[in-house]
Amino acid sequence: MNREDAPTTGMIDLHCHLPFGVSDGPECVDDSRRMLKCAAESGVTHMTAVAHYGHYFPEVCRAVEELRADAEKLGVTLHPAFEYDYLHLESMNLEELRFIGPKSRYILLDFNRERIPYAAPMRLFELAEQDVGIIIVHPEKLFGRSALPLLKQFAEGSIALQINAMSLLPESPSHVRKMARTLLDKGLVHAVASDAHRPAGHRRYVMREAREIVSAAYGDALAAQLFEVNPARMLENLPPLDAPEFPNWLERLRRRWTGR
Ligand SMILES: [Fe+2]
Repeated sequence: MNREDAPTTGMIDLHCHLPFGVSDGPECVDDSRRMLKCAAESGVTHMTAVAHYGHYFPEVCRAVEELRADAEKLGVTLHPAFEYDYLHLESMNLEELRFIGPKSRYILLDFNRERIPYAAPMRLFELAEQDVGIIIVHPEKLFGRSALPLLKQFAEGSIALQINAMSLLPESPSHVRKMARTLLDKGLVHAVASDAHRPAGHRRYVMREAREIVSAAYGDALAAQLFEVNPARMLENLPPLDAPEFPNWLERLRRRWTGR
């Protein structure tokens, strides 16, 4: 059995900028190795190793192959892929897409702007009809509450939302942290991923810390769903499970009074 086809257990990171010397990832192989070690210590068993989309996929694969032996010793399976900017999808040839895993047809999509483009819902649902699964990455870093109705529409239309592990930590900006918690409260998060770029600093590897925060605030069942079950399902090209809502006290009061 190819190592990449091996069944996955444990935590799964679908979005980590592990490949060194490409795009804005780590500068050298040693930095990538330190990130891998953190991932393994967090209990990660699969990592989708990405760079931002560009004409350098061979370099991404070369970096991943150089790290593969170290990763295997640590019990981590690597798969090279891209993180796409929404604009790339406007003109992208579907044959060229780099998916999150060998059996998956899900891709990572960064809107990379503060507003969701008007044409985006149509384009994303069009891709879904062509059997391309979409994972919208870190909406909590880009958007405010005004985007919630559209994000809800995406989530209900089988488009997955992934928040960053770092967005849950106290050191992230308060508006990002609040939006991450709002998305979790509303049951709109399908997966948490590292989006780590460096072995240290604010883009470091914090999956273990983030899982502990989710588990303490929402319970271990949801933590398992967001860090293990749903990422594993998307690797198998299955739709992620929906999360339950956790209405705050104000929302619970409003529902009691309005009966809705
Ligand atoms: Fe990223």
